[in-house]
Amino acid sequence: MNDEIYVLKIGGSVVTEKGKEKTARREVIKRITKEIALALSARKNLILIHGAGSYGHPQAKIYQKTGKVKDALVTHESVKELNRLIVLSMMELELKAVPIHPLSGVVSKEGKIKYKIKEQLQLALKAGIIPVLHGDTILDKKGVFHILSGDQLVTYAAREFKAKKVGIGTDVDGVLSDTGEVIKKVTPVETDTISIKGSKYVDVTGGMKKKVYLLKKLASENSIPSVLFNALKESNVYKFLTEDKDLFGTVIL
Ligand SMILES: Nc1ncnc2c1ncn2[C@@H]1O[C@H](COP(=O)(O)OP(=O)(O)OP(=O)(O)O)[C@@H](O)[C@H]1O
Ligand SMILES: [Mg+2]
Repeated sequence: MNDEIYVLKIGGSVVTEKGKEKTARREVIKRITKEIALALSARKNLILIHGAGSYGHPQAKIYQKTGKVKDALVTHESVKELNRLIVLSMMELELKAVPIHPLSGVVSKEGKIKYKIKEQLQLALKAGIIPVLHGDTILDKKGVFHILSGDQLVTYAAREFKAKKVGIGTDVDGVLSDTGEVIKKVTPVETDTISIKGSKYVDVTGGMKKKVYLLKKLASENSIPSVLFNALKESNVYKFLTEDKDLFGTVIL
């Protein structure tokens, strides 16, 4: 196995309409999976993660309010539906993709996350299969559920597999300044002065603010840089996977 691992997250803001409950953007899913298929001859070792979008955030918000097990399970089943759409779209293009549902392999001990999926990921990669993970509700030692974001899975996978490249696709061109311009480069010093908000939609995992925090940590603690780009724009996923220098976005290092 070539040990150059790419970690790519396609945000829920891309594959779903975050403002409309359980609304997938099927055409976008098709285009992105095509771009992955096209790039794959050049890039074999990919861990794909997708966000929950409107298949997870509104449902998880209900769970946060009620604390009912049923509502956490509804969230999980709902995100799995989105995962299935993506995996099936990949399979239609002859891509080998395997769903890995965090609920079945990640646990939380009062908020501390224990990932027990490394071997599955390793074996899938070794067999030339793309593991497809997603934000999910996971069991917690306390008997309640914990909400695990796709962004957390990105930093886990990147750290664990010493990713060569980490890409985060969302519905914006990058990290934006107060005046709406894309900040080309984010370093630990700079971010403190940028006012980053969460998300304009329901987002139970901290939106852009938490995303940048996690990626900054990945860069400073593990020396793994990442690039945040707009995955709603055609070819950007392909550009990320083929290391095209024209990819426009924010580099976090
Ligand atoms: N300074 C900022 N720069 C860029 N985006 C910002 C900023 N502040 C807030 N945002 C919001 O962050 C959103 C992207 O984060 P969000 O968590 O909604 O998407 P996502 O992570 O792709 O979705 P999911 O969590 O479902 O995977 C953008 O749509 C934007 O509205
Ligand atoms: Mg988010």
